[in-house]
Amino acid sequence: MRALDVIIAEHGNMWRVTRALGTLAARLGERPEADDLHTVELAADYLDGFSERYHHPKETDLLFARIRRRSNEAAEVIERLERDHEMSPLQIGRIRDLARATPPSDVDGLATLVAEIDTFTARLEEHMRVEEEVTFPLARRVLTPDDWREVDAAFAAHVDPLGDPGVDGDIALLRARLTQLLPAPDGLGGHRDAVVIELPRREARTRGTLLEVSALVCRYGRIEALHGVDLKVGAGELVALVGANGAGKTTLLRTISGVQPAAAGVVRFGGEDITRMAADARVRAGIAQVPEGRQVFQPMSIEDNLVMGAYTRPAAEIRDGIEEVYDLFPILRERRKLPAGTLSGGQQQMLAVGRAMMSKPKLLLLDEPSMGLAPLIVEEIFRIVKMLKAAGITILLVEQNARAALAVADHAYVLETGSVTLEGPGPELLRNDDVRRAYLGM
Ligand SMILES: Nc1ncnc2c1ncn2[C@@H]1O[C@H](COP(=O)(O)OP(=O)(O)OP(=O)(O)O)[C@@H](O)[C@H]1O
Ligand SMILES: [Mg+2]
Repeated sequence: MRALDVIIAEHGNMWRVTRALGTLAARLGERPEADDLHTVELAADYLDGFSERYHHPKETDLLFARIRRRSNEAAEVIERLERDHEMSPLQIGRIRDLARATPPSDVDGLATLVAEIDTFTARLEEHMRVEEEVTFPLARRVLTPDDWREVDAAFAAHVDPLGDPGVDGDIALLRARLTQLLPAPDGLGGHRDAVVIELPRREARTRGTLLEVSALVCRYGRIEALHGVDLKVGAGELVALVGANGAGKTTLLRTISGVQPAAAGVVRFGGEDITRMAADARVRAGIAQVPEGRQVFQPMSIEDNLVMGAYTRPAAEIRDGIEEVYDLFPILRERRKLPAGTLSGGQQQMLAVGRAMMSKPKLLLLDEPSMGLAPLIVEEIFRIVKMLKAAGITILLVEQNARAALAVADHAYVLETGSVTLEGPGPELLRNDDVRRAYLGM
């Protein structure tokens, strides 16, 4: 029955698209923004390329066909769903053609497009609802194990590009636009109560070490915030650091980037002792920090924010660096002249990452990049983190969203009130009962 989970996940993405189209339609009827028609086109391309070519045909040919073979109960409903499947490519085609051909000044043309979008989204949402409420329960009852084997195999074999973290091009742009159109944050993240976790045996890792922190102590006045922390990050690794509020995660990152002095202990980077090295020299050496709360310069343009991140690089390289960041985050290129303060939270996080990338870092320190962002944007941020790792950048990631962080981490550390209490491969910590109780709310 795994196919049903796959279908539901794909419905989730289709819902996001129909919701976003709804927002766009409302805006097109009143005060369209510059990218709106293009976004409609991208959404139509996605629906045409994925839903119409893969999702719907598989439902018709396999799932619905099996249900029909086993039961007459919902014959009429299924016929209606199949008719929807036949109709919807035509509707999407019309929407795309209108979005492409209508000039933003053509009020009547826009009204026609808005009407098409409204009919289409209402029909698709109703279609998904009926499928999930009527046909899925029926399928669960009447399909045989052999049926499921076949149906499951077919649905397991394809990937919804919108749910694929590695995707780029138009789909990545569509994702970025969708994050702008969907509703605001709904609060995420793990449990933040202080907890004590029993100390397990440390396991050795074999990869070449890029960063090594040993017996690090850090104080604010008389308060000791870090009590002798040991931590290693191998070259090319993505290492996650999780822990409750006030555990010292930010302090540890700031000590590594050099903005916070170490009271005792050693920080080594690429084998060299950098414990006393100034912060800007560490940037030159290849350490870049993306601070908690993003901290972009709001009144300054997006492009100028990026230029500021390049202060360690020769002027001749800055243009190339900017273009690289724009390739990574197309939405920043589109808005480059605008004040950074006009960006959404997710986009500001992209800008903060982009600014750090301008120094060509070997090691990126990310402090709670998903904080306060809506689920779809959090996915986007994690997609970016994975993309950076794939590009060979070593990453130390502090995250409140422990589940997501542990899932992507090669290795992870749990920090409790200034001490490391647990470490291990990310997926292993994800299965650890103490971690599940303390950070995953299970
Ligand atoms: N500038 C400061 N002066 C004094 N104490 C500080 C300062 N910054 C942090 N602390 C204290 O150091 C400890 C660690 O704080 P830190 O900000 O590093 O925690 P954190 O794990 O990043 O927490 P959060 O999840 O809230 O970001 C806390 O007890 C905090 O109150
Ligand atoms: Mg912090």
